Amino acid sequence: MNILHISASPRGAQAASRALSNQVVARLLARHPGASVTLRELAGGEDGDDSTALPHIDAGYALALSSAANEPGVDGAQLRSDGLIEELVRADIVVIGTPMHNLTVPSTLKSWIDHVVRINRTMRPTPEGKVGNLHDRPVYLALASGGWRTGERARQPDFLEPYLRAILAMIGLKDVTVFSAEGLALGAEREAEGRARASAEVGRHFGA
Ligand SMILES: Cc1cc2nc3c(=O)[nH]c(=O)nc-3n(C[C@H](O)[C@H](O)[C@H](O)COP(=O)(O)O)c2cc1C
Repeated sequence: MNILHISASPRGAQAASRALSNQVVARLLARHPGASVTLRELAGGEDGDDSTALPHIDAGYALALSSAANEPGVDGAQLRSDGLIEELVRADIVVIGTPMHNLTVPSTLKSWIDHVVRINRTMRPTPEGKVGNLHDRPVYLALASGGWRTGERARQPDFLEPYLRAILAMIGLKDVTVFSAEGLALGAEREAEGRARASAEVGRHFGA
């Protein structure tokens, strides 16, 4: 059993999305003792060290994707893409912790998506549209936003959750469960409430 844990917040130990995705991973480990966890920090770790940050794709990769061959990579983003796809293929469960940045995913998570959503690898074009090549597996999204993203109090369009659902479905991952901490930049009280509510939701989902 392999759990792939992707964490996209640049806020180190303060990150609400990381706290939430850590909680999900802990509950999964309790359910599957002995499972291995691969942690992929896209924007620096809990200690704020961003040396593991994922670079953007490069010219070689963009050129390869627009040619029919799309060969395995020898360097740069093509090679990184091969490794990240392999990591995803090997995962039985995927957990993604991410903040909302400017209504959608942070650029680092977008970079991971650009590396793993790869034509004729993880998806293929058909006359009916793009079809995923990966077999489905549970994906847990742990989302954090400064304002409200869902419900009656939302005062902003949400391109985060619908986008993640659409792009994951495009590579075949449709079994998606969402946990959401919202209103986190609206004062200490609201932040505590938003974190607690999301955490309780994880508790309810996985059971006592
Ligand atoms: C660059 C940037 C853009 C942001 N854009 C939004 C936004 O569009 N909507 C929102 O509700 N919060 C926005 N926020 C606030 C974060 O979503 C909020 O601080 C959240 O707690 C971050 O999650 P994290 O604690 O896991 O890093 C933004 C924060 C940053 C740094």
